Amino acid sequence: MTEPQRIVVGGGHRLEGTIRVGGAKNSALKLMAATLLAEGTYRFANVPRITDVALMSDLLRATGSEVGWDESGPEPILEITVPGAIEPVAPYELVEQFRASIVVLGPMLARCGEARVALPGGDDFGPRPIDMHMRGLAELGADFETRHGYIHASAPNLLGARVLLEYPSVGATENLLMAAVLAKGTTVVDNAAREPEIADLCELLNKMGARIEGSGSSTLVIEGVEILHSADHTVIPDRIEAATYLAALGIAGGEVTVAGARHDHMAMLCQKFGEMGMRISPDADGIWAFAGTRLRSSDCSTLPYPGLATDFKPFLVAALATAEGVGIVTENVFSGRFRYVDELRRMGADIRTDSHHAVVRGVERLSGAPVKAHDIRAGAALVIAGLAAEGETVVAEAHHVARGYDDIAGKLNALGADIRLD
Ligand code: UD1
Repeated sequence: MTEPQRIVVGGGHRLEGTIRVGGAKNSALKLMAATLLAEGTYRFANVPRITDVALMSDLLRATGSEVGWDESGPEPILEITVPGAIEPVAPYELVEQFRASIVVLGPMLARCGEARVALPGGDDFGPRPIDMHMRGLAELGADFETRHGYIHASAPNLLGARVLLEYPSVGATENLLMAAVLAKGTTVVDNAAREPEIADLCELLNKMGARIEGSGSSTLVIEGVEILHSADHTVIPDRIEAATYLAALGIAGGEVTVAGARHDHMAMLCQKFGEMGMRISPDADGIWAFAGTRLRSSDCSTLPYPGLATDFKPFLVAALATAEGVGIVTENVFSGRFRYVDELRRMGADIRTDSHHAVVRGVERLSGAPVKAHDIRAGAALVIAGLAAEGETVVAEAHHVARGYDDIAGKLNALGADIRLD
């Protein structure tokens, strides 16, 4: 995988045509972790070719599994072969590079009765504690000790239990699911996260022989089974990638079909863009959208699914930066996820932040500037902000964008954008 240093965006081009969305990063990574639960060969279709998937592949290899792409068919398939015995260790060198790796904790514990997982560090957009993951797993009988930067978990006999999550954490729900499927007895997870990626994980686990009910709802009932087996699966489309392209359209104007996207996975965002003046509807291919005039501002507030995803926020802020009027954006999921705002300001945006609020006063036009990507979505937001800016926007540290996007430049260029990698 080649990783660009900089993404250079020339502003002022309308977008027209069809853009295809890839498989969901946040689903693929968890499905890959789930393979640790059972020996055998798994074939996954629609896996995005992004850095985080390469990192999770390395993590699985570190456990003794084989991971590779099968390119002999019409579409590439990620093939994973998990041996009869795995090494339940997630090394620091990998964990520190992508925090989603913490979801190997549940499956390792369930399969081996023990796990050694490096403690993830801080993030650019605030701390990411894992207390809820550990508390939930402890209800199922796990013990934890932290030594030398590693969580040493042990649970020779996981027992089903009732777990009430304090907050519908995506990662905690996933870890609990993947531990409970092999626990003895019934586990009920209440206030579970309802993100589509969790329903996708439940679907794979059930194909593997798990007995999960309530998928997609806030109460998951898991009847533990003795053994699971491998299965094949197609990853759901990436709603965050699709949101990037819809916001790009809102900013640049034009008419686009986001092929493969699921309107039902992002209904709240489509409604929001509708309020802002775009026309958006599901069609046979995915989502059709039209943006004719300058967008109108609207207030936005992030919430767990089905609310507006926190991952959409940088795109919404970028879109509001050139919309007509004032929009207040409130972050309710992560603290301090506003670092990219300083970069947008460098492009002439008028944005004031105060704790978890951003007040965005739309300006007529941004002006291209050298800016820096601090994380995946922030980087993508800067790229799309550059689409309608005057002159050139140069987004440095573009490797962050490659963590979550397979060829964002090529895809947007096919719609008429002017983006090159440098
Ligand atoms: C996942 C997504 C991320 C998305 C987020 C919320 C992946 C790889 N990442 O992250 O893109 O933005 O869901 O939709 O799927 N929390 C605790 N203690 C815990 C766990 C979480 O306090 O043990 C807090 C977090 O700090 C945060 C909130 O709960 O404030 C939500 O976190 P969570 O839903 O767990 O997000 P992730 O699974 O890390």
